[in-house]
Amino acid sequence: MKRQLPHARDLAPLMKFKKPVWSGTERRLASALTVEDLRRIAKRRTPRAAFDYTDGAADGEVSLARAREAFADVEFRPGVLRDVSTVDTSREVLGVRSALPFGIAPTGFTRMMQTEGEIAGATAAQAAGIPFALSTMATTSIEDVAAASPGGRHWFQLYMWKDRERSMALVDRAAAAGYDTLLVTVDVPVAGARLRDVRNGMTIPPTLTPRTVANAIPRPAWWFNFLTTEPLAFASLDAWSGTVAELLDTMFDPTVTYEDLAWIRAQWPGKVVVKGVQSVVDAARCAEIGVDAVLLSNHGGRQLDRAPVPFHLLPDVVAEVGKDVEVHLDTGIMSGQDVVAAIAHGATFTLIGRAYLYGLMAGGRAGVDRTIEILSGQVERTMRLLGVTTLDELTPDHVTQLVRLEPRRR
Ligand SMILES: Cc1cc2nc3c(=O)[nH]c(=O)nc-3n(C[C@H](O)[C@H](O)[C@H](O)COP(=O)(O)O)c2cc1C
Repeated sequence: MKRQLPHARDLAPLMKFKKPVWSGTERRLASALTVEDLRRIAKRRTPRAAFDYTDGAADGEVSLARAREAFADVEFRPGVLRDVSTVDTSREVLGVRSALPFGIAPTGFTRMMQTEGEIAGATAAQAAGIPFALSTMATTSIEDVAAASPGGRHWFQLYMWKDRERSMALVDRAAAAGYDTLLVTVDVPVAGARLRDVRNGMTIPPTLTPRTVANAIPRPAWWFNFLTTEPLAFASLDAWSGTVAELLDTMFDPTVTYEDLAWIRAQWPGKVVVKGVQSVVDAARCAEIGVDAVLLSNHGGRQLDRAPVPFHLLPDVVAEVGKDVEVHLDTGIMSGQDVVAAIAHGATFTLIGRAYLYGLMAGGRAGVDRTIEILSGQVERTMRLLGVTTLDELTPDHVTQLVRLEPRRR
């Protein structure tokens, strides 16, 4: 082999130094290519109790693991030789077009994960043209969220409390602030057993103990934000000190039935979604009452463990009620491919819970933008690779499932 000394003119084209990015957050977010990457960054930057409150689920966390596994077991059936030079990722949901087939799910106590909390979610959703759902357990008020994202589409999530008048006062405030959809959550008659929270001694608000202080040392940014911004509190509930499970069990009403749902339907002027439906029979009863959508969800695995996987329920529910109501889905969505699979199986729309919160914990508002950017890129690329240019072209023929988790038919 003949060797030679390298010439500067040969080296020059190889030297592609990137412009340095000085902001640590920007650098971190740009290095995240998947929601799983955002989760890893979030874990490093967030105190354990807050991260586990978000990341964790109930009991053995089987519901969540299975929901994610069901998506992992999807096998796509692409069509080739189609013109996919332009694709449209938008979706009509409850009478209004959303730029993407997913929105942000309601999550409680969001400013604990990162101080920008619900405002980061609502403004990012507005910028992306997708709906943002605010929880009854939010840490930012109904009016403040609406004011921060004035052109955005807002949904309000209702937990029915023992004190009906106070619950309905919140609903009235949401209607007055322009929220167009009410999500009535029905899978929390009692709190699920969130064991990580018990083990971590997670309380609301977080308490300073020798352990939490030790945990703070490698996560100074979170603590700095926590101690130098508005104190963390529920925006719609009275002050509380105790565990989340104790709070849920004190406030929420285990006597709520279909009659109450019909009553709420009659009160609310906008669209009603029942969140947490987990059977064909219940989906049919909700449709009879005249709601606008059922959201197949097991609360991200945070309530009943070993609950049905929403993705498995989807075809039967769509067959039974799909002509009367929209069928939405959440739980376990970590990628745009998961969203596309759900739409192909007949879902009108999907919601993301943790995927948004991992972005939030990784980098506040910019982190939520990054989550949406990652998911939307994945949706678009998957559509192209499947040979479709609109979401309406997706059919169940585009998706099959490897049988590892197939429920046994009776
Ligand atoms: C930290 C956290 C808090 C939540 N709080 C609420 C809530 O207040 N109300 C509600 O209806 N659902 C709540 N959920 C459930 C979400 O709305 C959604 O159903 C779930 O996160 C979807 O699963 P995923 O996280 O795998 O996307 C919460 C979920 C998480 C992760």
